[in-house]
Amino acid sequence: MTNTTASLNAAQSGTFQIGGDLSVNRLGYGAMRITGDGIWGDPADREGSLATLRRLPELGVNFIDTADSYGPAVSEELIREALHPYDSVVVATKGGLTRTGPDVWTPVGRPEYLKQQAYISRRRLGVEVIDLWQLHRIDPKVPREEQFGAIRELMDEGVIRHAGLSEVSVEEIEAARQVFPVATVQNLYNLVNRKSEDVLDYCERETIGFIPWFPLAAGSLAREGSVLAEVAKRVNASPSQVALAWVLRRSPVMLPIPGTSKVKHLEENVAAANVDLSDEDFHSLDEVGKAEWAKDSQQS
Ligand SMILES: NC(=O)c1ccc[n+]([C@@H]2O[C@H](COP(=O)([O-])OP(=O)(O)OC[C@H]3O[C@@H](n4cnc5c(N)ncnc54)[C@H](OP(=O)(O)O)[C@@H]3O)[C@@H](O)[C@H]2O)c1
Repeated sequence: MTNTTASLNAAQSGTFQIGGDLSVNRLGYGAMRITGDGIWGDPADREGSLATLRRLPELGVNFIDTADSYGPAVSEELIREALHPYDSVVVATKGGLTRTGPDVWTPVGRPEYLKQQAYISRRRLGVEVIDLWQLHRIDPKVPREEQFGAIRELMDEGVIRHAGLSEVSVEEIEAARQVFPVATVQNLYNLVNRKSEDVLDYCERETIGFIPWFPLAAGSLAREGSVLAEVAKRVNASPSQVALAWVLRRSPVMLPIPGTSKVKHLEENVAAANVDLSDEDFHSLDEVGKAEWAKDSQQS
């Protein structure tokens, strides 16, 4: 497997300027997995979660994704405990999903609620301004212009510096851009889930950061004998490292945020920044990933 030595550094993934002026190393970290089961309550291994967070800056990971709803509150609190005052680390958070139990996520997009949650996240994280705040979901029960308007107000009030969206279409991004500058879009995307291909292409054209969640998924391509497994063996990496390297290579606006609660897995994931895929490997993985996605979409 690709090395986990001191030379490991997320800077090897290159940089991206969020909103044109906030520079981050492209390989980031998702802080959803440092909570309890069902993303509810405290983590089983609190010290392990804190150690994982403290390892991030040592590995050059300076872009962390979280949300008020992870725990809820637990993820933001642990990030503050481990990393405040965030020397050159960007903490991006989200709001707009409420929680009533493990694995239960309900959108609430009333403007006064969204604003309250951003104000609370700012206090919980202990920052003057949230570098990047993203609307976790557009609430279908509330006119979207009201939700976008709340984001505009949060920017104007100096609570948030940049803003983004999650699980949106190109049409929704364009509607939001009438109201505030969209700096990032966070949609489900990986080698074998390509439903947001058009959104990614749009983001690339418009220099909007595209944050793929669940980036490690490789589905059945990870099994022995598959093209992915063959490439992984040849480049001396694990299938998930190759899946991550492929995502990074797919677009210069791609900001993957693999999530883990374990230092060992974090180091393995950062090592993906060192995995160089040849053009041939990149294209053959692209083809098999698309074929897998087409097969899965037909079945569902
Ligand atoms: N916007 C949204 O709606 C949305 C939705 C979901 C997630 N997200 C964000 O996206 C981030 C990433 O998504 P995700 O956590 O669902 O998916 P992921 O990063 O693709 O996978 C995380 C899972 O893989 C395991 N893992 C991580 N590294 C590993 C390694 N090297 N070897 C073996 N297993 C490994 C983790 O368990 P261990 O803890 O055991 O390592 C965890 O169960 C989240 O943390 C969150 O910040 C956003």
